Amino acid sequence: QTGLTTLDQGFVNTAATQSAITYIDGDAGILRYRGYAIEDIAANSTYLEVAWLLIHGELPTAVELDRFEETIRRHTLLHEDLRRFFDALPHSAHPMSVLSSAVGALGTFYEDSLDVHDPEQVEISTIRLLAKLPVIAAYAHKKALGQAFLYPDNSLSFVDNFLKLNFGNMAEPYVVNPVLSKALERLLILHEDHEQNASTSTVRLVGSTEANIFSSISAGINALYGPLHGGANEAVLKMLGEIKASGESVEKFVERVKNKEEGIRLMGFGHRVYKNFDPRAKLVKESADEVLDALGVQDDLLDIAKELEAVALADDYFIERKLYPNVDFYTGVIYKAMGFPPRMFTVLFAIGRLPGWIAHWREMNADPATRIGRPQQLYVGPTERAWPRR
Ligand code: SDX
Repeated sequence: QTGLTTLDQGFVNTAATQSAITYIDGDAGILRYRGYAIEDIAANSTYLEVAWLLIHGELPTAVELDRFEETIRRHTLLHEDLRRFFDALPHSAHPMSVLSSAVGALGTFYEDSLDVHDPEQVEISTIRLLAKLPVIAAYAHKKALGQAFLYPDNSLSFVDNFLKLNFGNMAEPYVVNPVLSKALERLLILHEDHEQNASTSTVRLVGSTEANIFSSISAGINALYGPLHGGANEAVLKMLGEIKASGESVEKFVERVKNKEEGIRLMGFGHRVYKNFDPRAKLVKESADEVLDALGVQDDLLDIAKELEAVALADDYFIERKLYPNVDFYTGVIYKAMGFPPRMFTVLFAIGRLPGWIAHWREMNADPATRIGRPQQLYVGPTERAWPRR
């Protein structure tokens, strides 16, 4: 501590802003979007209805929702130059890198409507992001597969259009799978916002410089990519696969985590805020068995995950550190059962989180109290010294 400056590594005890969007009680495991409990929302709403709620603060009327969905449908096509953008990337490109690059590039097509102080331009940018991010995500997936890109099908719902873009192909008609649609819609809703997590804080910090919303969201995608944040859902599946391939017992793996061998962690466990349970993890775990059964998929990685959870939750090392499954622990097994490759898991998180990023960017942008983010530091480097004679 020097003067008024207190070091708070990782902002554990620092509120960077005020927000009315999401409320989390980490001890009680409560998560509410604009006052509504996540359990009620997940059981009754849709991705776009929740997006409207997060952005506007109230649930939309039926007319508002219809118009919102219809307007988004009319903006799903990408400019053909942006489709060609993908040709410049290698097939091996990680879809999260493709996503952040393409979203940053997306803004360049709308140079005439990026004024952050013009409500109409902010509104059309909101529509363009919600409409086009799923298409960009599906193109990143098709690029990795070496398959032809499909065009959006506006006769389908938001989620079914996204699923068709990923799993449809040019040779045969796409058949909607209601089990898949319902499961994905619910998972997207569970990811839509989470107050000041690292990627949302990134979106707000970049936006505080009056950077346009596309650049701010692109920065948020990059922050989400990290394995300690959204990248954890991909890392969990890698971890479960390694345990299975090694043939070692779950107990043995947990011992290695406790010994911090090569810095390994129990991915999908722990949370800065939740210290008893992550309500989203509970909801995902509840649906995992149901979704895999409905999809006719049996995956022993789910059994390994459940065993890992049981062993860890009975172990003092995890109990003392209040480490419980977070939202990323079970989602990967479901995404895999849906047919997504592990490198698409964090992309699905990004699509889920987009409405929250937009809502926070707009709240920050509209708040007269917003100032450019510029944290202080405690200097610990050398005191002044003379330039050496040479
Ligand atoms: C998300 O912020 C959000 O809301 C994020 C998110 C959202 O919706 O936006 O909820 C999404 O990012 C969920 C988290 C996904 N990440 C992971 O699952 C990666 C594994 N988890 C950790 O790396 C960690 O728990 C974090 C990053 C989630 C939280 O980090 P903190 O709060 O800085 O905790 P820490 O690293 O200081 O750990 C405290 C102690 C340490 O022990 P000691 O060194 O003091 O002995 O707990 C240990 C850590 O070693 N620890 C773990 C662990 N997580 C923390 N030990 C083993 N396995 C783990 N997963």
